[in-house]
Amino acid sequence: MISNKDNIFRLDTQNTSYLFRVTEFGHLETIHYGEFLMEQSLDAALLKHTAVTGSTVAYESTDPIYSLDTLSLEWSGIGKGDFRHSPCEIRMPDGSFVTDFKYVNHRIVNGCIPMTTLPSSYGDPADCQTLEITLADSPGEITLLMYYTVFPKTDVIARRVVLENHNEKPLVIRSLMSMMIDIPNRNYSLVTFHGGWIKEAHRQDRALQYGLFVSESTTGASSNRHNPGFLLAEQGSSESYGRVYGFNLVYSGNHYEGIELSNQDLVRVMTGINPHCFEWPLAKGERFESPEAIMTFSDQGYNGMSGHFHDFINEHIVRGDWKGKERPVLLNTWEAVVFSFTQNKLLHLARQARRLGVELFVLDDGWFGQRNSDTAGLGDYTVNRKKLPGGLPAFAKKINRLGMQFGLWFEPEMVNPDSDLYRAHPEYAVCIPGREPSLGRNQLVLDLCNPKVRDYIVESVRGILTTADITYVKWDMNRHMSDMYSACIKNQGEFFHRYMIGLYDILNRIFKDQPQILLESCSSGGNRFDLGMLCFSPQIWASDDTDSAERLEIQKGLSYLYPLSSMGAHVSTAPHQQTLRSTPLSTRFNVASFGCLGYELDLKYLSRMEKREVRDQIAFYKEHRKTMQFGHFYRLDALRANKHHWETVAADGHEAVAGFFQTQSAASEGLNILPLTGLDSNTRYSIRTRPQPLYVKQFGGLINHILPFHIHPEGFLIRMLDKFYTLTDCVEEYEGRGDLLSSGVKLNNQFIGSNYNTRTRLLGDFGSSLYVISKEG
Ligand code: GLA
Repeated sequence: MISNKDNIFRLDTQNTSYLFRVTEFGHLETIHYGEFLMEQSLDAALLKHTAVTGSTVAYESTDPIYSLDTLSLEWSGIGKGDFRHSPCEIRMPDGSFVTDFKYVNHRIVNGCIPMTTLPSSYGDPADCQTLEITLADSPGEITLLMYYTVFPKTDVIARRVVLENHNEKPLVIRSLMSMMIDIPNRNYSLVTFHGGWIKEAHRQDRALQYGLFVSESTTGASSNRHNPGFLLAEQGSSESYGRVYGFNLVYSGNHYEGIELSNQDLVRVMTGINPHCFEWPLAKGERFESPEAIMTFSDQGYNGMSGHFHDFINEHIVRGDWKGKERPVLLNTWEAVVFSFTQNKLLHLARQARRLGVELFVLDDGWFGQRNSDTAGLGDYTVNRKKLPGGLPAFAKKINRLGMQFGLWFEPEMVNPDSDLYRAHPEYAVCIPGREPSLGRNQLVLDLCNPKVRDYIVESVRGILTTADITYVKWDMNRHMSDMYSACIKNQGEFFHRYMIGLYDILNRIFKDQPQILLESCSSGGNRFDLGMLCFSPQIWASDDTDSAERLEIQKGLSYLYPLSSMGAHVSTAPHQQTLRSTPLSTRFNVASFGCLGYELDLKYLSRMEKREVRDQIAFYKEHRKTMQFGHFYRLDALRANKHHWETVAADGHEAVAGFFQTQSAASEGLNILPLTGLDSNTRYSIRTRPQPLYVKQFGGLINHILPFHIHPEGFLIRMLDKFYTLTDCVEEYEGRGDLLSSGVKLNNQFIGSNYNTRTRLLGDFGSSLYVISKEG
């Protein structure tokens, strides 16, 4: 995996090679990161410097050509001739900002070197190897340890740094990135994932231009605005072709990604903690750990790249009992009852859920303190006896007796000013002495830098988890930070990062010895969808937006960086509560099935036929759950702008499930093709549409075209018919070898009004179908 010969470090994974060397002056120079190289002679790959570039600073008078500004580097400082952005800005013990880290020594160890303050990837010594390189600015005084952990099977390399001060005088870190690399530009586009509440992770592409582009979060969390994950893709790359680099950060706080194209056409990529409001003094003998960054490369397009990330996260980030374990189908009470419920109402909902096949009943917000709206009660985790007279243990038992597991919602990092906790301990909330703090969703942030606050949270959450049979926890966090200040720290530049260290400490203390609890983290939906949280919670609520058309964009965006097993995806009501859009129940399921399926609606409003449909959906999902959560996931390039194509292929290849999604329908649309990939060319498969019902009422007056008698399109008869009768959408069945199917399955026509028969696909706006592709024999 890792070797070092003639001052050249070589880090190989199954399909990639990463090479860099120590230059004659001791800097680390990147030689190659990308395709696996068989070749050992590297002359062709080395960046050439045969002329003195004007307007540069020579590093040493002995070699006028050697300028840090034109080198392709693994790390760079400030003030020695590299005028690109530096991965570190440190006020050194001598008061200057000049740093020049150079090679001292290295060691290679099997396995990972664990971190002490932050979560990171992990692996057996047989599965990964770590290179530790010591660089020093002034030998023996300030050292920078650079770590590269190589995960060969998943083609991922993890990088991080540790800064140590051995000088008598303190230094101050104003910025310290986790990694830096310079890559020669090959017409790369930068792909980032942006959004906001209910519109998370929308993909954005921009061609690289000279200068610096920054994607960052300043909200205190990784944020729904800018995900820490990003890609660099050679122009013209598609889902299945092209050279694509992927980067991400194992961190849940303010992050920073800087991508700078230099005048020498080198792309500098950096990622780490956001320097925004950050300042960290290091006294003699102290060290600072950066979070871990991960990187991958594939020449098989976006799918190749995201496949590496998916395998890596399932194997080396997610831990505990739920690693690789199928997730239960859940019912969440939030969108069904919000704050207004009684035990009877919940039990009624639970009984219906059980009858439909739900396995886990999740009681969301509103079960504790005076939490009858979002204005009060946060912080007071004592059960509301008016709502649950027998308390939580008794309620959990009732749910268990119905044959379901029981899960519970908490928002432990927050407090409402109208709460017993705040009245008793106003000092627990984040605020600046003498200034009125600003509220978000009527709440304040608890000061996780304060050990007493951390103890309070650990005790109150743990107390509840030990009294009732709770197998799932939804850990929510519903506001951005403001008024950042903690009385527990001297230097407020440490606030944001210390908050994160505090959060990770709390999560460790509560859940490390309770690995049987499935943790789903949430932050107003996907406001903290990152690898740091995935080290604790195997799944994350992707968005408060459950509109299936919106979810196509959100789940697709997330899928470039995170596996299906990490995405909570629920079926809710239509018209949708945020978009007012009506989408078919079948599509709501078809989209949510590419993730960890749940239902979040009041089941009593479903008609008898809709309940039957939900029962069939859940049965289908359970049958193919492993493929839907842990299969190899592919986005397929759409032939038309109004289509989305997803496919997930079982790890053992015995089946695949493909989704054909349509947004707005088009009149007399031409050919519809179902693109497929990931199949074995020599194997025969059968392919069949998942049968799904069509409701009579969706056809309005058109129903008269196929009925032998005439009915009023909005009358009593059609409503009754709709209650007891459905049509079945066209089911197509084909078979063929993998090579034939992978050339694209030509589908039946969609309905175009000219005639109706059972071989016509009736999709309409936001219609969709799932196809199951099964190995024959
Ligand atoms: C946030 C979450 C929702 C729900 C509510 C409860 O908005 O994202 O899923 O839990 O809080 O207040």
